[in-house]
Amino acid sequence: MIPEGQYRTPLFDALVALAEARKVSFHTPGHKSGKGISTRFRKFVGSKIFTIDLTTLDEVDCLQKPVGVIREAQELAAEAHGADRSFFLVNGTTVGNHAMILSTVHPGEEVLVARNAHKSILAGIILSGATPRFFLPSFDPDLGIAINVSAAAAAEAMRTHPKARVVALTSPNYYGVAADMPTIIAAGQRQGKILIVDEAHGPHLHFHPALPPSAVDAGADLTVQSTHKIVGGMTQASMLHVKGDAVDAGRVAGILQMLQSTSPSYILMASLDLARMQMATEGRKLLGRAIELAEEARERINRIPGLRCLDGRQVKEWGDLSLDVTKLTISVKELGLTGYAASAMLNAEFDIQVEMADLFNLLVIVSIGDRRDDLDRLVRALEALARRSHGPAFVPEMLPVPPIHETRLACSPREAYFGKYVSVPLAEAAGRITCDIVTIYPPGIPILVPGEEISAAAVDYLQFLGRHGARIDGVVERPEAGIRVLAH
Ligand SMILES: Cc1ncc(COP(=O)(O)O)c(C=O)c1O
Repeated sequence: MIPEGQYRTPLFDALVALAEARKVSFHTPGHKSGKGISTRFRKFVGSKIFTIDLTTLDEVDCLQKPVGVIREAQELAAEAHGADRSFFLVNGTTVGNHAMILSTVHPGEEVLVARNAHKSILAGIILSGATPRFFLPSFDPDLGIAINVSAAAAAEAMRTHPKARVVALTSPNYYGVAADMPTIIAAGQRQGKILIVDEAHGPHLHFHPALPPSAVDAGADLTVQSTHKIVGGMTQASMLHVKGDAVDAGRVAGILQMLQSTSPSYILMASLDLARMQMATEGRKLLGRAIELAEEARERINRIPGLRCLDGRQVKEWGDLSLDVTKLTISVKELGLTGYAASAMLNAEFDIQVEMADLFNLLVIVSIGDRRDDLDRLVRALEALARRSHGPAFVPEMLPVPPIHETRLACSPREAYFGKYVSVPLAEAAGRITCDIVTIYPPGIPILVPGEEISAAAVDYLQFLGRHGARIDGVVERPEAGIRVLAH
């Protein structure tokens, strides 16, 4: 049964009503409902969008301290997701991750972090001055990717670090591989821990039973989701959900007031209101279709010689993990191609853009916006790539070091990030303490954490991936790839 209220879109309706009232505006934004916008911009996107690009006004409420339609829209979001309170975010899951850490961890305090965290979790740790204690997800050498943490690894980490009151998890990961959240969360909460979850890739999970359970349903205290990544939010539009009272929701609100803009985009917030309505009222049908299309494509891709697409059966073999089947992780290494090269070919020759490539794989997101024709085009392009000969197959041994490794910190990430530094060429950085979060982006999992001693293997790994076309973030590009390290 869909609650009647879920068909409502209070924020969007208020924006439309105010736009239609055509009041004279002597307030921001300066384009005044589009009258002052660049003609080229208006010609391309049309004029209506500018009439709802409004600012904090009585009729449309205030994100910093909502009392009207934004509050109602957030309450509807909480109801739809099974949360007790939800917050709209206008700087993506990035700001939500910062807020989760800042509202739960005190400076100097330990926080347990699954090592497959996005760099925004690390940024939250830098901002808070907390001390991370990492535990490792499993690594699959065949795909060359970190999969996710097992419940046993999480339990062991909680035993080893009893002082860490807060546990930060990332699930599903970029590839759609979800940890056993109900078990991990229940085990943590039995020990009085606070479980915070980066669910950037899971805003849709709650709305279809064939998908892994959502973190909110699994009982996470705080969860952040990129509504924009998978469902109908505009880019940057995310949500933070609070469940239970172990974390003070008022504290979260206060932290968000500090971190978020005082001029949040009403277009982004309206997209959250509408995306929530869409998921709550027809999510099951729309997601069912996306799942069907993804599964059909997976089967066809798995019939192409030289290609393999990760499926739920293989993920189950890894242990207590499960797969969001709308993600297609396609291994191209047997074709003798890197994921980066295959992605560039799909783009240049077939006008197909994938979400991400890594050394061995392509990652395709199938969503409520895809049509059968789109997937057919992808499969045909992959068939064409597979018919060509590219070179000898890549083998896992080519990876100089697994990207996920034990991380020993010489000082806290905050001390390293803000410490006195020098820039040294990457090739000469082994043995120094890194000041920056160094990642291959995407997926944005730190290869190096500020405060970590740089190993020769990590330098090899970064150089190796750089040569193969990966984008390395956190290194300085001038005059040659350099890295900020603590001065002696
Ligand atoms: C796991 C994970 N967390 C957080 C983020 C950041 O999310 P956003 O782009 O919504 O700020 C990303 C982005 O790719 C991500 O993959």
